Amino acid sequence: MKTTISFSAPAEVETESLVAVVLDHAEPATNESASKEKDKKPELKLATADLAVQSAAADLLASGEVTGKPFETTLLHKPAGVKGKRLLLVSGGSAKKFSSYDLRRVAGTAVRTLKSRGIRSCAFIAPPLRPELDPPPSKEGLISEVAVRAIVEGAQVGNFDPDYYRSDRKDQKIDAVTIITSGDKAALERAASEAQIVGESQNFTRDLVNEPSNRMTPTILAERAKKMSAEVGLKCEVYGADKIKELKMGAFWSVAQGSDEPPALIVMKYEPTGAPEKPVLGLVGKGITFDTGGISIKPADGMEKMKSDMAGGATMIGAMRAIALLKLKIKVIGIVCATENMPSGKAQKPGDVQIAMSGKSIEIINTDAEGRLVLADGLYYARQLGCTHLVDAATLTGAVVVALGYNNVGIFANDDAMYERFRSANGKAGEKMWRMPLDDEYKENIKSSIADIVNSGGRWGGAINAAMFLKEFAEDTPWIHLDIAGTAWTEEQKPWIAKGPSGIALRSLVEFVKGLAG
Ligand code: BES
Ligand code: MN
Ligand code: ZN
Repeated sequence: MKTTISFSAPAEVETESLVAVVLDHAEPATNESASKEKDKKPELKLATADLAVQSAAADLLASGEVTGKPFETTLLHKPAGVKGKRLLLVSGGSAKKFSSYDLRRVAGTAVRTLKSRGIRSCAFIAPPLRPELDPPPSKEGLISEVAVRAIVEGAQVGNFDPDYYRSDRKDQKIDAVTIITSGDKAALERAASEAQIVGESQNFTRDLVNEPSNRMTPTILAERAKKMSAEVGLKCEVYGADKIKELKMGAFWSVAQGSDEPPALIVMKYEPTGAPEKPVLGLVGKGITFDTGGISIKPADGMEKMKSDMAGGATMIGAMRAIALLKLKIKVIGIVCATENMPSGKAQKPGDVQIAMSGKSIEIINTDAEGRLVLADGLYYARQLGCTHLVDAATLTGAVVVALGYNNVGIFANDDAMYERFRSANGKAGEKMWRMPLDDEYKENIKSSIADIVNSGGRWGGAINAAMFLKEFAEDTPWIHLDIAGTAWTEEQKPWIAKGPSGIALRSLVEFVKGLAG
């Protein structure tokens, strides 16, 4: 998808379809007026100062046919007084609350609406954002850059469909988006091309996650990481079973030993010239290419979704791609522990004791709690390689889905300063995350009577118990854990994103690394 910045008057732009955002300027209901909510009329206006475009939509808006509900779309043909062949109106909800978070989704909705009609290009009128909701990127930076970024990222995400294996797929997509805005052209073009990199990387991750386990084995995942690394100038080493055993990664190996499919320890290094010695950020991803549960086998119902259990790893591979292409001035090491979790005659069994690379002994209570095992060695190895800060991402627990549903990533941190930085990054990236506790009291839950810790702390507080387990291996290194089990896969079709892999957390990671790089 190509993007162009245009300063032309929207009505003058020749395009297959102009896109304008509709906002509701009616005062939001107060408590007293809530009962009258039903009678309240929306006050819909286009988010553009262009009088010709406003007048082209005036009759439609006056007709009451447009309700202004978020993501409602209306397509007008041959809009009067406008050079575009069509005018697509996308509702963004309340004008007072409209932020870049909504704009991303509005852009995705526009792209999905148009491409499903066979349209290949469009021109998006960037709506003004409110500085109180979207602070400008810097003192010199303009809020219109924030809007451009949101539109490009949202459009990229909307443009992706996981229909690769369908023989009736139509390959409908938007090839070119023009963004009509104002400001400093060079800065806006930079914002657009950075957002392109981020959006493409997110789709790269989604593509990896979408692949079924027979076509995305640890070996294939490693090959994809290698190929990408060669393209963007990253160092990438892939290690097999021998090296995993030689490094004494007993926790990682305990999962890998049960599978006929060879495991892969993927290590990507980004060491740009001119980057300071420190910090060195470690990005560690869970790369279970299929999780059957092992001997503690999962029920058949829904097991097919466990092909996405490498989403954390895919997120780190995609993030490394974006970081390298954005040429951020910071050292980053990406580590993905990739293996299947299978039952077999060689598989580990409940009750087994494993020694992790750090030397800690682990009593295996449930072989389905395998993600934390591979990450334990991944995190420890990252520290051995010199990482001063760690972030991991993993589809780690069903319990995080019970706690937060499908709308928030569970975020855990052993360091408040690092958490604050990450929180600000995920705000800018438009990804929802909710902090969960990691108090020492929870450590009780992972005590073992015969080893240092157990790998499963039971049902209550399951996401926290899993994070407490990981904390044992991050030790005193500032660390953030992202449990993306509820958010890596979208079960429902949304107007702005296809059903399937979401690519969640990648944008926050990239924004966080940008902040660290200063
Ligand atoms: N991969 C699963 C977690 C998961 C669940 C991801 C639902 C995506 C959707 C993980 O390996 C797992 O099986 N966790 C167990 C842990 C338990 C045995 C302590 C779980 O959450 O049930
Ligand atoms: Mn599992
Ligand atoms: Zn798993």
